[in-house]
Amino acid sequence: MAVSKMALSKDDVRAALAKVSGPDGKALPETGTLSDIVVTDGKVFFSITVDAAAVPQWEPVRARAEQAVRALAGVTSALVALTGERSPGAGGATPQRRPQAQTQGQPAPARPQQPGGRAAQAPAGIPGVGAIIAVASGKGGVGKSTTAVNLALGLRDLGLTVGILDADIYGPSLPKLLGIRERPETIGGTRLKPIVRHGMSVMSIGFLIEEETPMIWRGPMVMSALTQMLREVEWGALDVMVVDMPPGTGDAQLTMAQQVPLKGAVIVSTPQDLALIDARRGIAMFRRVNVPVLGIVENMSYFLCPHCGGRSDIFGHGGARAEAERLGVPFLGEVPLDIEIREKSDSGQPVVATSPDGSHAQIYRDIAARVRDGLAGAGRLAPKIVIEA
Ligand SMILES: Nc1ncnc2c1ncn2[C@@H]1O[C@H](COP(=O)(O)OP(=O)(O)OP(=O)(O)O)[C@@H](O)[C@H]1O
Ligand SMILES: [Mg+2]
Repeated sequence: MAVSKMALSKDDVRAALAKVSGPDGKALPETGTLSDIVVTDGKVFFSITVDAAAVPQWEPVRARAEQAVRALAGVTSALVALTGERSPGAGGATPQRRPQAQTQGQPAPARPQQPGGRAAQAPAGIPGVGAIIAVASGKGGVGKSTTAVNLALGLRDLGLTVGILDADIYGPSLPKLLGIRERPETIGGTRLKPIVRHGMSVMSIGFLIEEETPMIWRGPMVMSALTQMLREVEWGALDVMVVDMPPGTGDAQLTMAQQVPLKGAVIVSTPQDLALIDARRGIAMFRRVNVPVLGIVENMSYFLCPHCGGRSDIFGHGGARAEAERLGVPFLGEVPLDIEIREKSDSGQPVVATSPDGSHAQIYRDIAARVRDGLAGAGRLAPKIVIEA
């Protein structure tokens, strides 16, 4: 098949959008509503952010913009998200635009409580999806993605229908951890079909951006990408969707925790004190937005020597269990630091899928069972799953 060698640029897209006008007749690029435009590999992605009240007038504009971009030579797919933003003080489900600089360190400032708490602003669930749970960590590099993948596989092994969504805007890694090279197909031009791996439906923000693409996403862009991955993907009927969240407790994470209709959160930590301080921030963040913490996983908990079988607690194992007790959240289990987990994880062959009879797979399945029980116990999973418990 002949593929155009001409690289499509943002300017090409912008030029096409200049021919689309907003509700007031202004050319779309002049309306100040466009996010950054991401162009990778013939795929174009951007969002239009408008006042929430104006969304109905803008929907046809969004559709025309999508059509105009799709008509460009070299475009294989175009996704345009329309994001309604409430004016401050108006309340509602959309985030207020705030700088995103905050990452680790100080927890995000408290969001003013809406009257009625989260119930008043809880995002709508995804039709057909039983429970969405976040896998999060206060800091990066603690094995969050590895845990998310193996936990999802553990839930699959319990007989649940599982989806996994990689929402880590800073370092999407599910394509790598699951050995996915292809891109999702579109259905009917607008909706995406998740990739299926190891019996799970998979979507990653990494499918929409190249690994090398610098992280230039602005807040609204991130939110619309997330909304799109949740709501414009044919997830089908799922018992559980596991979301690999971006590490940290900054503004982007808090907004995500608020915007995704989460039934619970699993916090991953290593045993060191410093990691635990961050884990505590993670728990505080979810509590602030009234998302129940299903528990803590201690990852890289201890080292099992592959030669002699001896065990060493190189990071001072057990810190997360003690922390969980102190904070009154369940302790979900300990995962050893093990070369097999690392090698399998990094080569796209997650251990639960490829060594299901090994001890590591059993550890992850036990963690999955506790997560499942935590959800079922609180009535957050469908009855079918409670019966299986
Ligand atoms: N229990 C483990 N034993 C050995 N290696 C592990 C274990 N858990 C994770 N790793 C390895 O540690 C590295 C970081 O893990 P992973 O990518 O899952 O972390 P993360 O918290 O998602 O990181 P990031 O913050 O970059 O998203 C990877 O190379 C992974 O294979
Ligand atoms: Mg990760």
